[in-house]
Amino acid sequence: MTEPLLELRGVHAAYGAIEVLHGVDLALRPGSLLALLGPNGGGKSTTMRVCGGLHAPTRGELRFAGRKMNGVTAQRAARLGVCSIPEGRGVFPNLTVRENLWAATGTGARREDVEEKAFARFPILAKRRDQLAGSMSGGEQQMLALSRALGTEPAVLLLDELSMGLAPMIVSRMYETVAELVEGGLSVLVAEQFARAVLPIADTAALMLHGRVVAAGAPADIEDRLSSDYLGG
Ligand SMILES: Nc1ncnc2c1ncn2[C@@H]1O[C@H](COP(=O)(O)OP(=O)(O)OP(=O)(O)O)[C@@H](O)[C@H]1O
Ligand SMILES: [Mg+2]
Repeated sequence: MTEPLLELRGVHAAYGAIEVLHGVDLALRPGSLLALLGPNGGGKSTTMRVCGGLHAPTRGELRFAGRKMNGVTAQRAARLGVCSIPEGRGVFPNLTVRENLWAATGTGARREDVEEKAFARFPILAKRRDQLAGSMSGGEQQMLALSRALGTEPAVLLLDELSMGLAPMIVSRMYETVAELVEGGLSVLVAEQFARAVLPIADTAALMLHGRVVAAGAPADIEDRLSSDYLGG
């Protein structure tokens, strides 16, 4: 087995005095897709924030490429190549599509290249190039969020609830793109309440309940453990 690119070991995390992660272990292997599944409030988003350097663990280790990186800032994590799309779309609503894409070029990518790639991947964004992001449909905003994240040429992409509020057809389209990116070598951690959307393209899956990973392994095995409730969508 190759060494994990991103790893959590015994991670605890809290909001104030209330602990919500109680010893989470998770390993994302290079060039693979790990689906983090489970019902509301299980701790998926908190886990994603810990991975992106946005929330510091109280105990345990966050590791990147075999090195402990507890205490890194989100900026440092981004420079290491860990890029997050938070729950509820990572776009600036008051900027246009192009301005949103330009804002992703901080790491040195050329504006033209980021635009060209985004428009080739999602032609609708080319049509909307001068429209304010906040006035676009949920699906278009999610396409923009994904394009922005890819503009930074990340090694690891953290996607939290890509499917939220989107029509099933758009969700399939988005995950098709994600699967292509993984084919191309990107490592992706996806948090999803709706397992059905992501399990078909996942390499491994983990089921999270009440702040703990209660099962991890092959997607088919995890699917067996999911109640029909979680599968909902
Ligand atoms: N900013 C916060 N302040 C206090 N408690 C929080 C905060 N964010 C989350 N929590 C609590 O932490 C626990 C885990 O929440 P988290 O958002 O990580 O779960 P989740 O699995 O992403 O849920 P969902 O499927 O609804 O997105 C919940 O009990 C939640 O109420
Ligand atoms: Mg969440």
